[in-house]
Amino acid sequence: MNAHERIFVAFDMTSLGDALELARSLSGLVGGIKLGHEFFTACGPDGVRRVSEVGLPIFLDLKFHDIPTTVAHAVAAASALRPFMLNVHGSGGEAMLRAAAEAAAALGDDRPLVLAVTVLTSLADADLAAIGVAGEVRDQVTRLALLAKGCGLDGVVCAASEIMALRGAAGGVFKLVVPGVRPSWAAVDDHKRVLTPGEAVALGADYLVIGRPITGAARPQEAAQRIVDEVAAAGA
Ligand code: C5P
Repeated sequence: MNAHERIFVAFDMTSLGDALELARSLSGLVGGIKLGHEFFTACGPDGVRRVSEVGLPIFLDLKFHDIPTTVAHAVAAASALRPFMLNVHGSGGEAMLRAAAEAAAALGDDRPLVLAVTVLTSLADADLAAIGVAGEVRDQVTRLALLAKGCGLDGVVCAASEIMALRGAAGGVFKLVVPGVRPSWAAVDDHKRVLTPGEAVALGADYLVIGRPITGAARPQEAAQRIVDEVAAAGA
C-alpha cells in the first residue's frame, strides 16, 4: 500500500459545500474520507453520494448497534452508497456481528470492509464497571476484536495504544483502523495519548483516521502531504 492510501481524513462538519471543496482539494493526496454521524445527520445519504463522486474512498462511520435484522438491513442500505469501509459496534454481540458480515458478503466482490468498534476510547475501566462489564478496557477490547474476527468482520477501529496487542491477537490480515494520531507539529486537541502517524503504522496500523490536523490547517493540502511524507519515511 502507498503511504497516502493509509490516510482517511475525518470530515467532522455539517456543510456539504465545505466537504465538497475540501474533498476536491485532497483528491489524490490521501487515501479517503471518513464521514460520520455529524456529516450524515446534516447532509444525509445524498451528501455521502455527492462527496463520493469526488472519487476518494469513503469510510462510513455510523457505528450501527441494533438487533441483527435491523443491522443487516442498515449495512445493506449503507453499502448501496458504495463505501470502502463501514462499521458496527462489537458490543452488539455475535448474532448482530454475523448478520452485519453476511449482509456485506451478499454484495460480492464490491462489498465494503466491515469493521467493529470495540470499546470507545472515551470509556475507562470505571465506566465499564458502571455498565456492568467486569474487567479492564484492554481485555474487553481484545475480547470484542476476536469475537468480531470470528464472526467474519474485516477489522476493528482501535486506539493507537491497542495496536500492538490486537496485531498480536488477531493476526496480520485483520485491519486495524486507528484514530487519535497526531503528527509532532500538530495540536493534540482533546486526545489524551497520541502516537505519530509514522509510529502508528510502524506498530501495525493499516489505516489512520486524522481530522483536525488536516481539516483545521491553514493549508490542508500541505498538512496532508506532510503526514503522508512522515508515514512514507517510517517505511510504511
Ligand atoms: O480531529 P481528529 O483527528 O481528532 O478526528 C478523529 C476522528 O476520529 C473523529 O471523527 C472522531 O470522532 C474519531 N475518533 C476519535 N477517537 C476515537 C474514536 C474515533 O477521534 N477513539
